[in-house]
Amino acid sequence: MPTIALGVTGGIGAYKAVEVARGLQKAGHEVVVVMTEAARHFVGPLTFEAITRHPVITDQFAPGANADIAHIQLATDAALLLVAPATANCLGKMAHGIADDFLSSLYLATRAPVVVAPAMNTFMWEHDAVRRNLEVLRERGVRVVEPGEGFLACGWMGKGRLAEPDAIVAAVLDTLRKGASLAGRRFLVTAGPTFEDIDPVRYVGNRSSGRMGFAIAEEAAARGAEVTVVAGPVSVAPPPGVALVRVRGAVEMRDAVMARAKGQDVIVMAAAVADYRPERATEKIAKETQTLTLVLHRTPDILEGLGRERAEGRLPGTLLVGFAAETSEVVARAREKRRRKQVDLVVANDVSRSDAGFDVDANAVVLVAEDGEQELGLAPKREIARGIVDRIERLLGTRKE
Ligand code: C5P
Repeated sequence: MPTIALGVTGGIGAYKAVEVARGLQKAGHEVVVVMTEAARHFVGPLTFEAITRHPVITDQFAPGANADIAHIQLATDAALLLVAPATANCLGKMAHGIADDFLSSLYLATRAPVVVAPAMNTFMWEHDAVRRNLEVLRERGVRVVEPGEGFLACGWMGKGRLAEPDAIVAAVLDTLRKGASLAGRRFLVTAGPTFEDIDPVRYVGNRSSGRMGFAIAEEAAARGAEVTVVAGPVSVAPPPGVALVRVRGAVEMRDAVMARAKGQDVIVMAAAVADYRPERATEKIAKETQTLTLVLHRTPDILEGLGRERAEGRLPGTLLVGFAAETSEVVARAREKRRRKQVDLVVANDVSRSDAGFDVDANAVVLVAEDGEQELGLAPKREIARGIVDRIERLLGTRKE
């Protein structure tokens, strides 16, 4: 059974981590506990050692610790890293890549999914610094099990109490299930804008950053899918673990997508493909006249082309997902687009909002499918990606091949 690394940090809720360890064991997992120095003031390592039947890792620099292979291998062996309770200090270190003890180093060294269950005083929980650190972690794909409300050890009533062990165990099991839920599936995801050249130095572009497409690609890869990303000229770094194909214009993107479309289980067109492109001048256009008219030509609609290919039987079994960036009548237009382009799912977003959509880290979307609509409220793009991939998984499950 998979090993779970359980990080215990120095909060009063540390005693509840004993219950969490038990719950994970009951679900059939091996648990290896890593305690921070502060945690040891609350619970003794022996308690965890007796329950888990594994040595507890307490010190990165203890003599012999680095000769112990099992100890070193935890970063690669762990199927998941859970930190419960996670103090504000620990979350801060994780968010900023500080690695000054075994647990914070383990977080950087592992590629396993990470779940944190924060616990702290209400004012600390509400502090802007903590909020921002959590935002950073969520964007990175870390799952947060929200603390509950109630009497806190410090005497306050409010939010900050470690979530109940059952809820923490359920979040871990759910994350592990999703971890492999797309194994064997192939995803092709487009991301970013396209740049349409006017002449050798100028182009027409748009504000898409590539974040939404990259987040979907990352989420699908994290669930075990084999992912290819076709990216326009993006302004953010691509996710690890995906095959990347870089293109510039809409025609080049169409060719790259069509060449790879066959055999994909899912194609997600998250790119903001230009709808028109200028006639490209071979020489730089000189500044001679008071006005300049550009003649624009329609670009190929890649998604519509994919829909047609599938309708004509050339892409059997491929699920098609498009986006609809609109500034008004968002859902109505998305419905119309889904029908016209003959695709399964359209992710509709209102790009007139300044807090969501283009070039920012958050999004708010409505998922429009044949069997209904689902709203995903304002959240970091990584969380929105999780909702989109959940929906795709449900469509894959019910799809008649
Ligand atoms: O029709 P509209 O451009 O609003 O449709 C948006 C959806 O279609 C997006 O999924 C986008 O990636 C895709 N698209 C495309 N080829 C184009 C324009 C848009 O595949 N030329």
